[in-house]
Amino acid sequence: MTRRPIGIIVNGVTGRMGYRQHLVRSLLAIRDQGGIPLADGTTIWPEPVLVGRSEIRLREIAERHGLTDWTTDLSAALARDDVQIYFDAQVTQQREKAIRQAIEAGKHIYTEKPLAEESAAALDLARAATTAGVRTGVVQDKLFLPGLRKLKRLIDGGFFGRILSVRGEFGYWVFEGDWQPAQRPSWNYRAEDGGGIVMDMFPHWQYVLEELFGQVRAVSCVTATHIPERVDEAGRRYPATADDAAYGIFELDGGIVAQLNSSWCVRVNRDELVEFQVDGTEGSAVAGLRNCRAQHRSVTPKPVWNPDLPVTENFRSQWLEVPDNEEFDNGFKVQWEQFLRHVVADEPFRWDFLAGARGVQLAELGLLSAREQRRVEVPELAR
Ligand SMILES: NC(=O)c1ccc[n+]([C@@H]2O[C@H](COP(=O)([O-])OP(=O)(O)OC[C@H]3O[C@@H](n4cnc5c(N)ncnc54)[C@H](O)[C@@H]3O)[C@@H](O)[C@H]2O)c1
Repeated sequence: MTRRPIGIIVNGVTGRMGYRQHLVRSLLAIRDQGGIPLADGTTIWPEPVLVGRSEIRLREIAERHGLTDWTTDLSAALARDDVQIYFDAQVTQQREKAIRQAIEAGKHIYTEKPLAEESAAALDLARAATTAGVRTGVVQDKLFLPGLRKLKRLIDGGFFGRILSVRGEFGYWVFEGDWQPAQRPSWNYRAEDGGGIVMDMFPHWQYVLEELFGQVRAVSCVTATHIPERVDEAGRRYPATADDAAYGIFELDGGIVAQLNSSWCVRVNRDELVEFQVDGTEGSAVAGLRNCRAQHRSVTPKPVWNPDLPVTENFRSQWLEVPDNEEFDNGFKVQWEQFLRHVVADEPFRWDFLAGARGVQLAELGLLSAREQRRVEVPELAR
């Protein structure tokens, strides 16, 4: 089979997301499976160009995976004719500048979320990319989670009747870094470094809500910095200036109300690290990362409130597991495959920079709502 090599700059490849999800679980996994087959009999073959700040770490990653193409010079990588795509998994604050450079170099661009720190900047990037005629994409990995795919299947099959509400719980305890090291990078807890759970999670909630339930029309949000001091990677104490929990209410088309709690200061008493309960007139479901359980109207029990009696029913056991009925691949990889097909074979791809800008907008308006202690409407973003 003829290979169609496609040069891809992977900037930020030494980071958590850049390395594990994008290089190893996506681009190298695509090579391991023999590339991406196209209808004309050829295959798309990713050729990663590793870009970062540390020569030692880049060389170490390259050697570990039998790769040879790496550099600390982004401009030189962008100047290469055999590079068609720029991918960004750097810390959020570095993204906008690098993407502008990539647009100027005429590269197609795929990026981690959030696209930028402000919606005006995100929209500007979307417009600049359109003007330059380059294709764009933003990671929206949660859409490809098995749990949410099964939930979407229930929605598409009309299981819920009229959907009334969504309640979501996301979070886990992120260690402060003193007596046990923190399991997330410290920049996430510093506002001045682009951190904060609203900027991190609201872009995800925006596309999850829009794709599954309807457009978000208004947001009300309370944020908190529950843990005011943490300890960084070098063991130094630092003031945690960013929000580490966000309690949001989102009003959607069709009168659907979604309440989503996002927190790095919560201990898990759930089956999965994120769960969404959806209630509709005909049935309800609870979806997590992998699983989805449903309860139809016809088998809904009739509990009666009586605190004087012990609980007589095992409510959790009254739900039915929704079967997989298909194989679910890694979500990051599935979206990479779609973006590569978009670039090489002109297939449609709808999660472009404008979609990414809507995610940034919701985060921005969530923060505004929290700051001004009021409900904020979410206007349509125009290209
Ligand atoms: N899609 C998802 O589920 C998901 C999950 C986590 C993070 N993210 C996003 O991915 C991006 C990276 O997050 P991460 O958790 O991998 O972070 P990380 O700290 O592990 O990695 C950050 C990367 O950016 C590089 N970098 C470039 N300039 C830097 C600078 N001035 N300071 C610090 N690092 C710099 C680092 O070398 C490293 O390669 C963020 O934008 C984040 O929002 C997405």
